[in-house]
Amino acid sequence: MTPITCIADLQALAKRRVPKMFYDYADTGSWTQSTYHDNEAAFQRQKLRQRVAVNIDNRSIKTKMIGEDVTMPVALAPVGLTGMQHADGEILAAQAAEKFGVPFTLTTMSVCSIEDVAEYTSKPFWFQLYVMRDRGFSESLMQRAHAANCSALCLTLDLQVLGQRHRDIKNGLSTPPNPTPRVLLDLALKPRWCWNMLQTKRRQFGNIHGHVSGVDDMTSLAEWTNSQFDPTLDWSSVEWVKKHWDRKLILKGINDVEDAKIAADIGGDAIVVSNHGGRQLDGALASYDVLREIVDAVGDKIEVHMDGGIRSGQDVFKAIAMGAKGTFIGRPYIYGLGAMGRPGVTKALEIIHKELDVTMGLCGETDIHNVGRHNLVPTGK
Ligand code: FNR
Repeated sequence: MTPITCIADLQALAKRRVPKMFYDYADTGSWTQSTYHDNEAAFQRQKLRQRVAVNIDNRSIKTKMIGEDVTMPVALAPVGLTGMQHADGEILAAQAAEKFGVPFTLTTMSVCSIEDVAEYTSKPFWFQLYVMRDRGFSESLMQRAHAANCSALCLTLDLQVLGQRHRDIKNGLSTPPNPTPRVLLDLALKPRWCWNMLQTKRRQFGNIHGHVSGVDDMTSLAEWTNSQFDPTLDWSSVEWVKKHWDRKLILKGINDVEDAKIAADIGGDAIVVSNHGGRQLDGALASYDVLREIVDAVGDKIEVHMDGGIRSGQDVFKAIAMGAKGTFIGRPYIYGLGAMGRPGVTKALEIIHKELDVTMGLCGETDIHNVGRHNLVPTGK
């Protein structure tokens, strides 16, 4: 097998190994996918200032995100159905992140439950919350995350209604699933994935399944979940969450400077500049393109993180240079997981770590804390 040297290699392998229905679920954006693609393109438009003849022998990319030590400013983003890319996917990704020294964020929409992940990890992870119409259920999720020792709650604000991804509908990835014959044939051609799935004993959608009365099979689970995304979610809902969560709070899905100002006033420990990886509002600005304005507006009041389109350590470097204190990656680790399970997630992290370290050195910096806009070529030059 040719060596894996970049995230694109992990993506290609995942495409071969993960059933089409679930690979496509990850590698898609909403509607025309313009924001999905622009997230990556925005990083490509940014050029770096190369500096030479600087002693870069001792370099460090260790830092902190919301006060927690990290071996690099990268966290694993919450990704729904992670456990469908590889059996026990959430547990494997959390273990890889823990070993590597970066945060893992478990989504509400996971296959493995909060308790499953807590059982197989030893350090606190972060939990991502969707506020549901059933506020009692949302409250119980926060209590379960607290009991599982999660150190931070990541509250996602950009999904009051679901963005539409054409490929999911065409593949029959609906609730309940309705796979097309082509998708079923593809499943039959992926025996390794099927075998792994048959081995797992986990309950599907473990955060929900068995925790809501009457929701005890896949059909009722699908119906209940679909009806629960809450279009009434507003800033008072954030205040409500703050009353029920006394640990670190991250507000995710901010893509406009006015929202960033409101979020900073409401208070929390960080915001994540994000457009949900181009899966919600198609046509929204690329995250990297709004980062500068948001950092300038609120960077002295609240820690600013970003995600969307990061495919290399170079992209992480650019985000940090622009003023982010941390980044999240979604698809890069999801591809690693689909390609090779836990070692694939580790590989994705190793690739990004190495690229970040080398880029920093070639820009003439030795400490990630000194990286700044002086490392970026101003746009337009
Ligand atoms: C996501 N994302 C997401 N975000 C969230 O808050 N809760 C969730 O359940 C999900 N689910 C989800 C599924 C899949 C398949 C993807 C690709 C993404 C968004 C995610 O947290 C993050 O914002 C993006 O993935 C970042 O973009 P990149 O790194 O994938 O380009």
